[in-house]
Amino acid sequence: MNRRVTLAARPQGFPTESDFALDEVGVPGPGSGEVLVRVRYASIDPYQRGRMSEARSYAQPLEIGDVITSQSVGEVVESSDARFTPGELVVGQLGWQEYALARGGSLRRLPPGLEPPTLALHVLGATGLTAYFGLFDVGRPRAGDTVVVSGAAGAVGQIAGQLAKLAGCRIVGIAGGPEKARDLTELYRYDVAIDYKNEDVLEALRGEHVDMYFDNVGGGISQAVHRRLNIGARVVICGQVSQYNEPRPEPSFHPGLLIVFRARMEGFLINDYRHRFDEGVARLARWVANGDLRWQEDVTDGLENAPRGFIGMLNGANRGKALVKVG
Ligand SMILES: NC(=O)c1ccc[n+]([C@@H]2O[C@H](COP(=O)([O-])OP(=O)(O)OC[C@H]3O[C@@H](n4cnc5c(N)ncnc54)[C@H](OP(=O)(O)O)[C@@H]3O)[C@@H](O)[C@H]2O)c1
Repeated sequence: MNRRVTLAARPQGFPTESDFALDEVGVPGPGSGEVLVRVRYASIDPYQRGRMSEARSYAQPLEIGDVITSQSVGEVVESSDARFTPGELVVGQLGWQEYALARGGSLRRLPPGLEPPTLALHVLGATGLTAYFGLFDVGRPRAGDTVVVSGAAGAVGQIAGQLAKLAGCRIVGIAGGPEKARDLTELYRYDVAIDYKNEDVLEALRGEHVDMYFDNVGGGISQAVHRRLNIGARVVICGQVSQYNEPRPEPSFHPGLLIVFRARMEGFLINDYRHRFDEGVARLARWVANGDLRWQEDVTDGLENAPRGFIGMLNGANRGKALVKVG
């Protein structure tokens, strides 16, 4: 049987465990060109909150009863696509379930010996690529820049800051709580850590001239950073996670500041960089091999606990990339 986590109800405000259901259906057999994958690890991400809502977005919403969408890593069990053989590890949009059917063309084979294989779900997967393209293509760092990253201890943030450091920048990270603030300086090589839960961000940034702001959170934290921008600053809008559960999201910036600082603000979506994923993964893999990138994983054990892991991530309980161990 295939155990799956599905959407039981559209969350109103902050999600609760009753918005999810655990069910069991038969394991499907692969049709022509399809591959049956046994999922080992599934990703937990803020964007999943958007898919649970009917509001207009860049992707179709989930319907009630749909399996929660996610990138997952798993092992090929049966294949009707000659490119894949049983036993191979693959990554794809396989969802929160034990078994998934996928078109062969939608799967990527993991490099042999990739250890841990979960790297394909973060540093060498969607969140690492988000940090890579957001920082280099949208933010365009210059050596000596001061770069501020919010959500700095999370999956994207832990990599974005280190990439800015590799580009010769001075990096300031903002995260919630003393443990995460310690991770920023001791693990991820941030020059300055700000614990927004215990410090006034505007005050902590006094004297800073922010050349690039890599924004993962929006809201009040971003309002404070915007007031410390330097002339010619770039503001990279990666995410606004502080607002995803708000019925009326708070505007996080005043357009007049773009005039004052002659600044540029730009949002981006990682899916638009698909044609360059190989380039991004190759560069990230080199930094990983050289020991230049550090990361943490925050693993929830058991598919049935995925909703709890998801709600915890939205609350900031995750230290590093949030994942669920499925099998
Ligand atoms: N543009 C793209 O293509 C793209 C792709 C992937 C992700 N993203 C975005 O990138 C951001 C980070 O995603 P991720 O996967 O790396 O998640 P993550 O940072 O690992 O986890 C979410 C974090 O958000 C922080 N948070 C929650 N509520 C907050 C609040 N009210 N104020 C400040 N921080 C809050 C928490 O950290 P603290 O403990 O520090 O509060 C929590 O750990 C999200 O906004 C996501 O939507 C964008």
